[in-house]
Amino acid sequence: MTEKLALLGGSPVRSKAKAFPKWPFASPLDASRLQTVLESGNWGGYPFPNRFATEFQNAFAAYHGAKYACCVTNGTAAITIALKAAGIVAGDEVIVPAYTWDGTATAVLDAGAIPVFVDVDPDTYCLDVSKITVTPRTRAIVPVHLAMRFTDMTALRALARRHNLAIVEDCAHVHGGEYLGEGAGSMGDLGTFSFQSSKLMTAGEGGIILTSREDCYELVQTLVNCGRAGSTGYVPARRPTGGNYRMTEFQTAILLGQLEMLPDLARQRAAQAARLDEALAAIPGISPLPPQRAITRLPVYNYVFRLHESGISRDLFCAAVEAEGVPCDGRFYEPVYRSDLFGPSAEEFPQIAGIDYRRNFDCPIAVRAAYHESVWLPQFVLLDPADAGDVVDAIAKVACNLDGLRTADPTLAGVKAMSRAERPRVERKNY
Ligand SMILES: Cc1ncc(COP(=O)(O)O)c(C=O)c1O
Repeated sequence: MTEKLALLGGSPVRSKAKAFPKWPFASPLDASRLQTVLESGNWGGYPFPNRFATEFQNAFAAYHGAKYACCVTNGTAAITIALKAAGIVAGDEVIVPAYTWDGTATAVLDAGAIPVFVDVDPDTYCLDVSKITVTPRTRAIVPVHLAMRFTDMTALRALARRHNLAIVEDCAHVHGGEYLGEGAGSMGDLGTFSFQSSKLMTAGEGGIILTSREDCYELVQTLVNCGRAGSTGYVPARRPTGGNYRMTEFQTAILLGQLEMLPDLARQRAAQAARLDEALAAIPGISPLPPQRAITRLPVYNYVFRLHESGISRDLFCAAVEAEGVPCDGRFYEPVYRSDLFGPSAEEFPQIAGIDYRRNFDCPIAVRAAYHESVWLPQFVLLDPADAGDVVDAIAKVACNLDGLRTADPTLAGVKAMSRAERPRVERKNY
C-alpha cells in the first residue's frame, strides 16, 4: 500500500467531518437524578455517606467484589488516603511503577512517604515485580494497572506476603476490569479509582476507595470525613486526623448512570480491541501488546501498541496517524522521575532529603515505552466497528509508508524526537 500520507499532503483516511463519539456519555437517567439532588437542597457529602453516595458505593463495591467502598474527591487523594489507612507514616518507602501518571507518585509524597520507582514489564508496561528491591523501610506497593493490562498480581501478592507489605492498587484505568476472576481494586489491601474526565467512568472529577478490610475501611471513613468515627464499630489504636474529601451528591448521581453503562461499553471496547489485536499483528513495523491470559474481564482505557525500532521517531509516527484523522498519543506518560510535572523538593517534602530523582533512578523499559515505543489510542475510537475499521486503516497506511516519513522534514509538525533539554514543554493531553 503506497499512498501519500495526510501529513505529507495526501488525503486522510478519515475526514474531520466524521467525528468520533464525544466523550463522556451521559445516561438517560442523569437528568432526573440531578433534579432530585437539586430539589433536595442537600447537595454535599454530609450526612456521610449521603443518599446517592450510599447507593453508588454499594453498587461499585459489589461490581468489583469488594466489601466496602468510599467516595472521595479524586483519584490522587484516594491513593494518599488509602496509604494512610494502610498504616503508611512519614518516612516510609512506597514502591511505584516508573511509567504512570505523576499523581500516583505525588500521592505517596502527600502521605509523607518516599516514592521509590521501579521499572515496568516490557509486555504489559505495568510494574515489573521481579525488579522490586525491598529495603528495611519499604512498607507498601502501589501497582498501577495501566491502560489495558494488569500488574502480575499473583507474584506481587506473594512478594507482599513474604515481606509484610501493604498493596494499594491504583485502578484509575481499569474500572470494571477483572484479573483471574477478581475485580480490580479488590486484590490488594485497598484499591483506588479516579473519575476524572478522561476515565472509563467519570463525574468530571472524583474518586473511590475499595477495601474488604474492616480496619482499613474505618480509617478511610475517618480520613475522608473530617476525623469522625466511621460506620464499622472497629476502634483503632489511634484515630488519625481527617480532612474533608467527601464527594458531592451531584457527582454520585452521575456515577450511578456511569456504572450502569459500563458493562455494555466495556464489551464494545473489548470486541474492537480484539479486532485491533488481530489486525495490528499483521502490519509490519508495529505489534500489539502480547495477550495477558490472566485478564478475565478486559478494561480498555487506552488501546496501546508498540512501534518497532525503524529510524522513525514514535512522535512523528503518532503525528502521521493523527493527520489521517485518528486521535493518537505517544507521550501519554513519561517516566515520572523525569517528568516536567514531578520535581519535588525537600522543602516541600522533608522525607525525600538527599534524593535526586532525576539522577537516582534509571528505568530503561519505561524510557523506551515513554519516548520511543508506545502508541496510545483513546477508548472512544473503539466503541463503533466502523470507527475501529478506520483506526486500523489509518495505522496500516502510516506503517506501510514509513519510507515517506523517513525522507520527510524531521521537524515536521514539531515532533522531531528531542532530548529533554531541547524539547519545549509538552502539554500532555490526558489531563
Ligand atoms: C494512573 C493514574 N493514577 C492516578 C490518577 C489520579 O486521579 P485524579 O486525576 O482523579 O486525581 C490518574 C488520573 O489521571 C491516573 O491516570
